[in-house]
Amino acid sequence: LPHLLTLEGLPRATLDALLIRAQSFADGHYDRRALDAVAVCTLFFEPSTRTRMSFSLAAQRLGADVLNFDASTSSTRKGETALDTFKNLEAMGVRGFVVRHSQDGAVAALAGHANPGTVLVNAGDGRSAHPTQGLLDMLTLRQAKGADFSRLTVLIVGDVKHSRVARSDLHALRALGAGTVRVCGPAALLPGEDVLRGCEVSHDLDAALEGVDAVMMLRLQRERMEEGLVGSLEDYHRGYGLTAARLRRAAPDAVVMHPGPINRGVEITDEVADGPQSLILRQVANGVAVRMAVLEALLKG
Ligand code: CP
Repeated sequence: LPHLLTLEGLPRATLDALLIRAQSFADGHYDRRALDAVAVCTLFFEPSTRTRMSFSLAAQRLGADVLNFDASTSSTRKGETALDTFKNLEAMGVRGFVVRHSQDGAVAALAGHANPGTVLVNAGDGRSAHPTQGLLDMLTLRQAKGADFSRLTVLIVGDVKHSRVARSDLHALRALGAGTVRVCGPAALLPGEDVLRGCEVSHDLDAALEGVDAVMMLRLQRERMEEGLVGSLEDYHRGYGLTAARLRRAAPDAVVMHPGPINRGVEITDEVADGPQSLILRQVANGVAVRMAVLEALLKG
């Protein structure tokens, strides 16, 4: 791979290889000099906790020199463009860029200006893609349910329309042969058929939960939403919040996931988020391993 911009179109073999490598990192097998003298910059133009910190940790564990770019204290505040920022850091010898931006396609646009040997990883662009979140979700599912997804029923709930996580999860679930993928949310928060291709679509969470093996909750992306697109948060919770009572409709060994950050009491209750079926912090732990696998695949050799 020259860059990792999206999971769309990646063959199953590529995803499987990254997941197997990530599992080996998760098990603690890694070479702390693998990226010796390679400079990696986390270039985030949007806020982040999990993605940014776990990419930094992943790069450090492989021995890279890590630069964390903070837009709020950078010369972007004086009007410097993202492209000029990128080219200046590249001129300093940074080879790996982990980029988050609010605009769809912004990371691909920067990649189009990269010198040979410079690699970019999309850490989330607009509502388009968050490929390493998709990979870490698949690693988490694989650990819980095994590598064969063909008999699984996976439910994605909430604001799919504005979610780059959902798009990357859907690409990965299709590539890995998930048996049934259900999507549930209010009509105003579901995207078009291009995104939902092959999914069972529902607006009734109680019905959609019946017998599922995994529930992937999504955050309400209010920063990407027109005013008034959903009613009150209380109404949203009544319709689409995951509660312990609702979760009993799923398979007894169903697992619950959420990419974070969580709006507690809105899309999920504390009882479920912190309960025995929740894999939310396992997802976060897997984020480091998956990002090590991606950085190694792109930057080593
Ligand atoms: N899941 C995720 O992308 O979280 P952050 O926005 O904190 O990176």
